[in-house]
Amino acid sequence: MSTKAVLITGANGEIGHGLIARLTEQHPAIRIVAIDVHPLSEELKQRCHETIAGDILDRVLIDRLAAFYDFETIYHLAAILSTKAEREPVLGHRVNVDGTLNLLELAARQARATGENVKFLFPSSIAVYGLPDLETKMRAGKLKEADWLVPRTMYGVNKYYCEQLGRYYNWYYRQIDPQPAAGHVDFRSLRFPGLISAVTLPTGGTSDYGPEMMHMAAQGKAYDCFVTENATLPFMAMPDAINALLKLESVPAKQLTQVVYNIGAFSVSAKNFYDVIKTAFPQAQVQFKPDPLRQKIVESWPADVDDSLARKEWGWKPEYDFTRAFNEYLIPAVKKQYRK
Ligand code: NAD
Ligand code: SER
Repeated sequence: MSTKAVLITGANGEIGHGLIARLTEQHPAIRIVAIDVHPLSEELKQRCHETIAGDILDRVLIDRLAAFYDFETIYHLAAILSTKAEREPVLGHRVNVDGTLNLLELAARQARATGENVKFLFPSSIAVYGLPDLETKMRAGKLKEADWLVPRTMYGVNKYYCEQLGRYYNWYYRQIDPQPAAGHVDFRSLRFPGLISAVTLPTGGTSDYGPEMMHMAAQGKAYDCFVTENATLPFMAMPDAINALLKLESVPAKQLTQVVYNIGAFSVSAKNFYDVIKTAFPQAQVQFKPDPLRQKIVESWPADVDDSLARKEWGWKPEYDFTRAFNEYLIPAVKKQYRK
């Protein structure tokens, strides 16, 4: 008989760290199977039932997982983020699209075999949007889920397509089979803004300048910010991102009318980051040296998102606004971390 478990892909990443910690604190008996191309730390390993240093593109590995476990929920976090995917677009496509397809197939097979729905939590991104220029971006303000879905990066294209794949698996998978299967993939996706964690540093993203500025200042290192002072994006503190994933996972399916939801917390400029960081770390050495090409990507992403649908349907509400995120979570935690 297979073992019931929760699968987390990309478990060694920023969200994976926070998610594993929170899940195991809230549910000490939970069985987490964690997979990442990079081995997890001993601390994270101890919180998991099984950890696998492996690739989501490895079909043999996916088949082995299917043979041993019945996954009730899959948090599919593994991805190549926007900057890295722009440098290596084919790799981005393989991991972000082919990898996601492998996991959706695993979920679909398991749902058909057990007759139980498998929840599939997929973090999408504000990168699915593509505004043509800065003027349009600032005029557009908060974007709704269906606005400006013309992404300009490989990562954004991948995320948008995977949202559509998820919608297909959720509603229409093998729709012409004579006998519909009892279980299906219960696909639920969030479009995250840029995330800021006090514990981990981001790598390979376009919104990395905010968290990088803070982590470098806390370590007394100089930082060259790759966007202009007035570059503006929506951001969110990591604890809220984890809250959102867990809340969306737990909501009864009948409450949801959509498979993809915007979620927001605060919209800030790079200068807003600089000001709060300079106050906390007066020795911070930050220079604005915009990279015009990465700046263009930031200008194609929205300044803010309209998350009213998530608020209405499943009670989404961030706990941290900009001030609280820095004063009560980020600054105290990074000070402690780098004092060690
Ligand atoms: P991250 O880069 O820290 O983590 C991604 C993890 O995936 C890494 O540990 C990496 O080793 C792993 N990975 C990459 N390719 C893999 C493969 N082929 N097989 C197995 N593992 C692989 O990113 P994160 O911030 O933890 O993001 C998690 C998810 O959330 C991603 O899907 C990302 O697109 C999404 N997201 C993140 C942000 C953000 O600001 N961090 C914003 C929006 C969406
Ligand atoms: N924060 C991510 C990135 O910059 C967006 O999903 O790639």
